[in-house]
Amino acid sequence: MTKRKIIIDTDPGQDDAVAILLALASPEIDLLGITCVAGNVPLELTAKNARIVCELAGRPETRVFAGCDRPMARKLVTAEHVHGKTGLDGITLPDPVMPLQDQHAVDFLIETLRTEPEGTVTLCPIAPLTNIATAFERAPDIIPRIQEIVLMGGAYFEVGNITPTAEFNIYVDPEAAKIVFGAGVPLTVMPLDVTHKALTTRARVEAFREAGRVGPAVASWTDFFERFDKEKYGSEGAPLHDPCTVAYLLRPELFSGREINVEIETGSDLTLGMTVADWWRVTQRAPNATFIGDVDADGYFALLVERLAQL
Ligand code: BDR
Ligand code: CA
Repeated sequence: MTKRKIIIDTDPGQDDAVAILLALASPEIDLLGITCVAGNVPLELTAKNARIVCELAGRPETRVFAGCDRPMARKLVTAEHVHGKTGLDGITLPDPVMPLQDQHAVDFLIETLRTEPEGTVTLCPIAPLTNIATAFERAPDIIPRIQEIVLMGGAYFEVGNITPTAEFNIYVDPEAAKIVFGAGVPLTVMPLDVTHKALTTRARVEAFREAGRVGPAVASWTDFFERFDKEKYGSEGAPLHDPCTVAYLLRPELFSGREINVEIETGSDLTLGMTVADWWRVTQRAPNATFIGDVDADGYFALLVERLAQL
């Protein structure tokens, strides 16, 4: 089997953690590295949490890199109100002993994309896009070498979760998002419209709890962060956002969407970070993204449980 080579760019975050576990549990995927960025919590914690997750999975040889500690042009906004003080609240896991790589995440992205054969590396950003956009600015030659980007971010019908009109990952670094959405790389986007259909219902959380060695930790994470979303949305559970990206690589038939134009608002204080998604194709602007709108949620959670149980 030819494995799909991916790099996960992340700010763990409980849902990021599940995305990392899904990749590590999947034989179809070769996880070349995990690049960390400031987002849900500051960089020091995201780089620590990524290693906690690798050790939980029994994969301490995974290479974890620390990247940018703040957005390209703005002050960092974090989300401890959702993810807790550590970013990974829910269960206390041991501090990691595996090393953080010396190389900066942006240098790792550039070097990897230059050395791996053209068109063979997929990027899965599930955090503010600072590392990716910084790499594009520093080394534009890597852009055409990327196979595909599958990212979590943005919204259309669901509009926003950190402001009335913006989703967190795009809002935190809209300048970076503008660079990535404008780069011309094949781009698949998992917006809130799809992740809000992938809810951690009671039955799904209980299935996680039974899913092998890592199951209880995953259930404790979802138990923790769903309290915030359930109260906010009055829903049955919380959206499990980030693993949608990795699940899409494994089982694209679970998802459906359309190719549309998506522009990023960087000029307005009121709607900063809005993904202006031309879902109804009312402009002549050329499509630059496959914007996913629907998911077979039962299939998605079944895939997660099946794979997590392998770890
Ligand atoms: C995104 O923001 C973060 O809080 C989550 O980890 C996810 O990547 C959802 O808006
Ligand atoms: Ca995230």
